[in-house]
Amino acid sequence: MAAHEEFSLPGRDDLLDKARALGVEIPYTDDVSALLTPVQVAGRTLPNRMVVLPMEAADAETDGAPTPITARRYERLAAGGASIVWFEATAVTPEGRSNPHQLMLRAETRAAFKRLVGRVRKAARAAGRDPLLILQLTHSGRFAKPEGLPQPVLAHRNPFLDGLLSLPGNYPLINDETLQALQDRYLAAARLAHEVGFDGVDVKACHGYLVSELLASFTRRDSAYGGSLTNRSRFLLETLARIGDDAPGLVLTSRLSVFDSIPSPFGFGVDADDPAREDLTEPVMLIRKLIASKIALLSFSAGIPAYKPWYGRPFDKPAPGGVTPDEHPLEGVARLLRISGLLQCEFPDLPVVGTGMSWLRQHFPHVAAAAVASRMMSLAGQGRGSLARPDWPGALARDGGLAPDRACTTCSLCSKHLREGKPVRCLVHDNRLPGPAPRPGGRRSGKA
Ligand SMILES: Cc1cc2nc3c(=O)[nH]c(=O)nc-3n(C[C@H](O)[C@H](O)[C@H](O)COP(=O)(O)O)c2cc1C
Repeated sequence: MAAHEEFSLPGRDDLLDKARALGVEIPYTDDVSALLTPVQVAGRTLPNRMVVLPMEAADAETDGAPTPITARRYERLAAGGASIVWFEATAVTPEGRSNPHQLMLRAETRAAFKRLVGRVRKAARAAGRDPLLILQLTHSGRFAKPEGLPQPVLAHRNPFLDGLLSLPGNYPLINDETLQALQDRYLAAARLAHEVGFDGVDVKACHGYLVSELLASFTRRDSAYGGSLTNRSRFLLETLARIGDDAPGLVLTSRLSVFDSIPSPFGFGVDADDPAREDLTEPVMLIRKLIASKIALLSFSAGIPAYKPWYGRPFDKPAPGGVTPDEHPLEGVARLLRISGLLQCEFPDLPVVGTGMSWLRQHFPHVAAAAVASRMMSLAGQGRGSLARPDWPGALARDGGLAPDRACTTCSLCSKHLREGKPVRCLVHDNRLPGPAPRPGGRRSGKA
């Protein structure tokens, strides 16, 4: 792996020369039209291949209801022209929240979510758009901080992560009965998501949160949810099956970390001899079962933000206090592209959403279009890039490219805000917020 460097690749040839020097493959085309072609997802024809990836933003009320700041984010994203707006990690239960301002969908917040979806659809319609709206459902597991301080819920002990939380040796694991009861919370949230007008739900299984940690629970003993792949994937598959039976009209999906970089036997999708390399044997077996559980599309990811965040989101600067990656960001981008290509090739009929390309700045649409054209992915997602520039899909369709001046600089300040439980936005490009400044731990400026 090469030394980390900040982005300094203004032109196409700079990018391709750097890729050659690093020995990685980066597809590229001058013609971005592949991103502007229609694609079938869940029986619907989507007008283009562009997706807003889920970005948690810690701007909800303390009861989990969206605020006007939440509504503003999604109105802009929905009007921006992407075919899919993938709403952020939304807790299904109070103890599963990542911070006191994470969105949470339950009976108490149903009306506020209904208003949110209504506002977002109205903004989309006013701009001539009709994006698929998918809500990500989550339990933050070992990273839960419902009151602002860690209250970890562990699926298994993990020597690479336990130290981050200074956990005592006898810290308990979530038991099987509690996991079974938790499935009911996912089901209830999915039912509410359907009622308030979302098109689909994602049972989040990425980034080391609870369902993702279950997938890596090789060492969990005497449990229906640990050991074999069948056991480790039981929670995810059963939850999806129950939601599918209960709400057949909902589009089903899962954001799946197919590689978390934690050494064996504590990581999922990891080469036993080299934790910096993926081994997709188990993820592929799991995706086959997810397809049988009727997922309509797959958004994959990698890495654990609290451990080695660059595996999922290559960046220039780590969030303050974070470490500098031990690889070049373009190597990280290339890994995610390679994984996307392997998955799309293995499952040609499953729409796969590409990720981790914001570091490419103005090159993103050219690389993404080449990846779509060569069937390495069906759709291209942007996370941080969408915070920086919510109208990127429309701008791309209009201009045939994206100007560098409004691109995400991967400065990680959005990640810093999330870690601190402060409202997330692009600190570089978006300094206007409606309403009074939020007060730490206090209520915000009224419900959305
Ligand atoms: C501040 C922040 C919040 C995020 N929130 C979520 C989330 O709620 N759910 C999720 O699956 N991924 C989340 N991610 C990961 C992004 O969806 C995406 O995978 C990652 O940023 C890489 O894509 P990009 O290079 O386009 O940013 C988040 C990332 C950041 C930086």
